[in-house]
Amino acid sequence: MIPRFPELPMEEFDADYRQAEIENLDKLKNIIAEFEAVAEMVPSMHFGYFTGEPVRILDIGCGTGTLPFHLAQRNPAATVIGVDISEESIAYAREHYEPRAANLSYEVGSVEDLHGRFRDIDMITCVGALHHFPDLDSAVHQITQTLGDDGAFFLSDLNRENIHAHFSAKELKYLDSVRRLPEKVRNNKLRRQGYTKGQKVRRFLTLMSFQAAYTPAEVSAALGLRYGFKGRMAGVDYVLVVYKRDVAATDAESV
Ligand SMILES: C[S@@+](CC[C@H](N)C(=O)[O-])C[C@H]1O[C@@H](n2cnc3c(N)ncnc32)[C@H](O)[C@@H]1O
Repeated sequence: MIPRFPELPMEEFDADYRQAEIENLDKLKNIIAEFEAVAEMVPSMHFGYFTGEPVRILDIGCGTGTLPFHLAQRNPAATVIGVDISEESIAYAREHYEPRAANLSYEVGSVEDLHGRFRDIDMITCVGALHHFPDLDSAVHQITQTLGDDGAFFLSDLNRENIHAHFSAKELKYLDSVRRLPEKVRNNKLRRQGYTKGQKVRRFLTLMSFQAAYTPAEVSAALGLRYGFKGRMAGVDYVLVVYKRDVAATDAESV
């Protein structure tokens, strides 16, 4: 397995993310259908968001706010909040999306203090952001504590295990070796190969994101026995729905 290489220089990513998010609006709309499909994999789960109930939803690491906007449109009875640590991204979301849906708002904030600010949320979503969070255990703890008793966590992120589906062995070896160099040397080498412009710079950032990402097994270990999950692990990313298990019933079954 590719070892985790967690350092992600946010200042290199922030503006680039906004650009990429603005260019990929439909991708975030499609993820709602994926979340709905994984929710259906949990037989006992009644999930009111998809049936139009007035649930509370929070998208953590919402970036420029596209997913919360689509969620708010998909279920007008829901109350939707987008949260992101980037002030610039939240400013963009407030300007472009907030005026277009009455049930939608955005706040600057970190996953690290989610539970201090929000309680009893029915649905927490997180797309492409988990690999940025500084500590997996504490992020998972914050998220599960912020969920209400019947709440569900919908997660989608890069799967570090599947890095070879995106990079050839040769390109991975090259980019990985360059990544480990001091910043100045690294940038010179990348410039010579054209990796500092357009799509190619994105590829390098994608490599860094992959290497910072977790595997579903690591997420599962952080969730512990109280939570189960179902989802899709194939492809460059994975999509999961995480739900609270009835531990007493599970224990009884395993006796
Ligand atoms: C790759 S972007 C994903 C944005 C959006 N969810 C999407 O799919 O387009 C990762 C986002 O995570 C945010 N982020 C990084 N660390 C964070 C933290 N500790 N708490 C909340 N958001 C964070 C970044 O500001 C960035 O907007």
